[in-house]
Amino acid sequence: MAIAFETYRQVDEEACEARILEAKAALGQKAVILGHHYQREDVYRHADLSGDSLKLSRLAAQSDAEYIVFCGVHFMAEVADILTKPEQISILPDLSAGCSMADMANLSKVERAWRELSSVLDPDEAITPVTYINSAADLKAFCGEHGGIVCTSSNAGKILEWSFSKREKVLFFPDQHLGRWSGYRMGIGLDEMLVWDHDLPMGGHSVDAIRRAKMLLWKGHCSVHQMFQVRHIESFRQKYPEGKVISHPECNFDVCMHSDEVGSTEYIIKTIAASPEGTRWLVGTELNLVDRLAGQFAPQGKTVQFMSPTFCMCSTMARIDPQHLAWTLENLLEGHVVNRITVPENEAKLARLALSRMLEVS
Ligand code: 13P
Ligand code: SF4
Repeated sequence: MAIAFETYRQVDEEACEARILEAKAALGQKAVILGHHYQREDVYRHADLSGDSLKLSRLAAQSDAEYIVFCGVHFMAEVADILTKPEQISILPDLSAGCSMADMANLSKVERAWRELSSVLDPDEAITPVTYINSAADLKAFCGEHGGIVCTSSNAGKILEWSFSKREKVLFFPDQHLGRWSGYRMGIGLDEMLVWDHDLPMGGHSVDAIRRAKMLLWKGHCSVHQMFQVRHIESFRQKYPEGKVISHPECNFDVCMHSDEVGSTEYIIKTIAASPEGTRWLVGTELNLVDRLAGQFAPQGKTVQFMSPTFCMCSTMARIDPQHLAWTLENLLEGHVVNRITVPENEAKLARLALSRMLEVS
């Protein structure tokens, strides 16, 4: 029988650290630990491989390890299960590590939107459904089935180009901000986009408005990235006129417009790394990553500063703590798999189709 988690609650940080290292060494090549850039430091340092969502989905697909221990959030572990071989096992050390944005769209609401849209046009002829990778597997399957595709924050522009080459409109879910910014960057006017309010009939729009729109943006957002405001950028610029601002595209449109650079977590890291010594950066993304960058680049004389005066962390990702990681690894050593993430094959097949279109395009 698997070891219960209860006994790990009281294990202190130091003991946890030692037990993780020991279990990791004993498991060797059998297990690979993947860590997203937003992961808390005491877990992140145990990751064999780290990256943004796109990079991690590629790394999971390339890995030969029997166990993929995903220190990220639920949808990432699902992607790992979908892209790896059937005999590989994807594990999320704490099942409550979800993504609140991903939860803002679900299959029944998206299917309802599709039905409602079919009273205006033939959605399968006129609309490419695009789901941000931050979404449940059944939504990726929906996109696979309806000629659609998955995107991440690092390839959304290319994915939109592909999507518009197939059909005249895009239904983009669940993040309206990534959709709006990426559409705007490819020349689509804000007046050609409408926000689809999934709690209202027809998304809250008239038939005419739907016919005119090029992009239908799902009413969803990341609460972490909504904490950043233009006023934070303005006060930084007043104090440090020579400073640079970089934001994640999950931030609101005005924050993106006021930033010098906008891009995925991987892009943020590369841009700061490539900047000249002495550069001062204001960064609009999750706190764990910004703190890590501040420490990493301080020796090069670069100052990296968090955009919001209040803390905003991805609290769900942070649920994967050292205790859960130790519990997961020690169970594996005892031959017990805990918190396996499995996507049913009928769903996985269609989701894989939407993901493989993305991997081909990007
Ligand atoms: P990245 O694709 O940049 O890793 O972002 C994922 C995410 O959840 C950002 O909030
Ligand atoms: Fe989801 Fe936001 Fe956390 Fe990213 S930062 S995983 S979008 S809740």
